[in-house]
Amino acid sequence: MAHQLEIELKTPEQIGLMRRAGLVVADALERMRAAVGPGVSTAELDRIAEETIRAAGAVPSFKGYHGYPASICSSVNDQVVHAIPSPRQVLREGDLISIDCGADLDGWHGDAAITVAVGEVRPDLRGLVRAAEDAMWAGIAAAARGARSGKGRLTDISFAIQSSIRKAGRYGIVEGYGGHGIGSAMHQDPFVQNTGRPGKGVSLRPGMALAIEPMITRGRPKVAELDDGWTVVTLDGSVAVHVEHTMAICDDGVWVLTAHDGGRSRLGELITAREPVPAAE
Ligand code: MF3
Ligand code: CO
Repeated sequence: MAHQLEIELKTPEQIGLMRRAGLVVADALERMRAAVGPGVSTAELDRIAEETIRAAGAVPSFKGYHGYPASICSSVNDQVVHAIPSPRQVLREGDLISIDCGADLDGWHGDAAITVAVGEVRPDLRGLVRAAEDAMWAGIAAAARGARSGKGRLTDISFAIQSSIRKAGRYGIVEGYGGHGIGSAMHQDPFVQNTGRPGKGVSLRPGMALAIEPMITRGRPKVAELDDGWTVVTLDGSVAVHVEHTMAICDDGVWVLTAHDGGRSRLGELITAREPVPAAE
C-alpha cells in the first residue's frame, strides 16, 4: 500500500511562530555570509551559527539530528550537501561554499541555505549560483501562483525548478535529495522533487510550509555519499551549489519565512499580505 502522506497544516498563528524561527536562520546565515573569506574554517562558521541561534533562544535543529554533530552543513566546491564543518577545512580564494542552517524556536523550525563565493570565483561559477537561486525562486513563485489559483499541485514546484535550471544552461540537477515539508519538525511530508512533470502530487493548500532546495552541478548530476555517512559529493568532481528557503503557503500568496524581506524583492505581489510592508525610510 502506498505511504499515506501526513501533511501538517499550520494555522496563521503557527506560521507566525515559524516566521520567528525563520528569521533566526536568516540572521545566522547573514552573519556567516559576512564572515566567509580566505583563511576562515568551516568550523568557525559553525561556531557563529550556533552562537547566533542560541542567543536568539533557539536550538540548532541539525545538531543531534540522526547523530549529526554540528549546527550547519558547509559544502565546499564538489561537496553538494551535508558536509560536516571542520577546523581543518579552511576556505581559499575561488571556493564556493553552500551553508545550510536550521533553527528550532519554541518547537517550530526554519531551514535555509545560501551559497557564498570566497573572494573572486570563476565567472561560470557565478552563473551556477545564479541558476540555483533563480530556480529556487521559480519554485517558490510556482507555489504562490498555485496558492492563488487554488489549483496548484506539488510537482508544479518541481517542474518550475527544473525548467528554470534547463533554461539557465547545461547543469546537472541532483536527484534523490530535495525539499520537504517543515513545521513542528524539520523534515516532514511531502518530499519536494527538483525535477518532474507538473500537475501531480498533493494540492497546494494554505497552511502548508515547504523547504524548497535545488541542488545543481557544473557537470553530471550523479552524486555519492562519503564514508562519514553524511557528505554528499559529485561523482565527476564538478562544483555543486545548494540554496534553500522555507516558505509558507497562505491564501493570497506565499511567505518566505527565512528571507528577511519575506520574499518581496524576488516575488513582488506574489508575496502574502501577511508580511508587513516595510516602513518608508
Ligand atoms: N537542511 C538539510 C536538509 O533539508 C538538513 C540537513 S540535516 C543534517 O536536507 F542532519 F545534516 F543536519
Ligand atoms: Co531542508
